[in-house]
Amino acid sequence: MSTNNGYILVEQSLNLSGTASLLGAKNAALPIMASLILTSGKSVLYNVPNSADIKEMIELLEDLGAKIDFDKEKNILEFDGSFINKAEVKHEVMDKMRASILVMGPLLSRFKKARAAFPGGCLIGARPIDFHLKGFESLGVKITNDSEFIYATIDGQLKEERKIVLEYPSVGATENLVMFAVLQAGVTKIINAALEPEVLDFLEVLKKMGANISFEIPATIIITGVKKLNSVSHTIIPDRLEAGALLLAAAITGGNIELPDARPDHMDLFLEKLKQMGHEINIGFNNLSSNKNIKTGVKLIATKSQRAVNIKTCPYPGFPTDLQAPIMAALCLANGVSVVEETVFENRLMHVKELEKMGAQISVKNNKATVNGVDHLYGASVIASDIRASAALVLAGLAAKGKTQVFGINHWRRGYDKLEDKLINLGAKIEIINN
Ligand code: EPZ
Repeated sequence: MSTNNGYILVEQSLNLSGTASLLGAKNAALPIMASLILTSGKSVLYNVPNSADIKEMIELLEDLGAKIDFDKEKNILEFDGSFINKAEVKHEVMDKMRASILVMGPLLSRFKKARAAFPGGCLIGARPIDFHLKGFESLGVKITNDSEFIYATIDGQLKEERKIVLEYPSVGATENLVMFAVLQAGVTKIINAALEPEVLDFLEVLKKMGANISFEIPATIIITGVKKLNSVSHTIIPDRLEAGALLLAAAITGGNIELPDARPDHMDLFLEKLKQMGHEINIGFNNLSSNKNIKTGVKLIATKSQRAVNIKTCPYPGFPTDLQAPIMAALCLANGVSVVEETVFENRLMHVKELEKMGAQISVKNNKATVNGVDHLYGASVIASDIRASAALVLAGLAAKGKTQVFGINHWRRGYDKLEDKLINLGAKIEIINN
């Protein structure tokens, strides 16, 4: 577990209260940035978080020839795809960030060939890409690989009518395959597609570019190929995962918080679980500027005595795997026994043993954690195993008596853009200690 470059020092900070804004969703920004490979000309993205994963994607795209200007303060990313002239992704770039596999579909679309590497796995799982590769092959793409790279080429004419049935609604596979299909003549159907809010925002951008995309029930995306896609301007949706971490910071410390730009329609089940835990939730008190029919805003007033609830992670609109670790931190202090079942990733309960170092009482059997609520947690030195575990451990540190050192700060930086500053504005005593 990487514990390089410092740690997050968290001191008990009860009753966190106030208002916080949200940045754009990392998991929407990454595929949207990759989709810009499909265009020439200047595009602009607003509300782009300045996190390490975004920085990696910028470096990857610049290596392919894109011209990118990212205003880190205003969170505005300007992109010009006119000079993209490479269809090969460097190995060292692929190793740094899994999501780099998302450039395979657009490169294949633009150049009729692409070379990528198997993305590095991580601690939460092997992170295979078989659904991506099987999907490309079922569309008529030729996939080969050697010990280092994966090669994709289009030999000859693709079939006019194409259908992919995904074994699992994989977010990345859905996005990669759509980015290939949008410029291929004919019709492509993707059945059992992922439809997370981030995927829908990504599809919105492609439609703005001129892609012909429609939906069918159940969970089917239909793409009719077009000849060309145009550059685009888009504001990334607010990050439901940043919103979740902020709401839980108020919940776990007995405070109250208002998130004016949060999209309650992106987090129905998560908000339902917070209500079941006893927290007061008010939603929808603002209008989204770009669409008056969409209400934004979530307020939480924490209960002083949280109830235990059961959680089972599933593809959207089920409970998001990326909020499993953060809500588990709060359940450690709930009255009663909560069962948290992780069904999306095969190894995403490693934060359990770190929470136990803080006094949590949790037992794990296969992919289920049984959390016996305790009265208090105690500060400890803990290590984050992934982005969302780092949020869980910071949240636990806010409630715990004493001080907590959260190592694995690189995970925190990968997934969040100065979230610590937002927590400090709510009253949190947090300090980033760089070694
Ligand atoms: C995306 O990852 C997100 N990342 C993840 O967020 C998120 O947890 C995940 O979707 C699920 O919602 C980005 O969008 C950049 P999947 P992705 O393909 O696309 C297995 C975070 O913390 N699988 O839906 O990789 C896979 O191993 C990150 O922000 C295959 O077996 O997720 C996993 O068990 C973590 N073969 C399950 O499917 C494949 O070809 C879901 O993966 C692809 C996936």
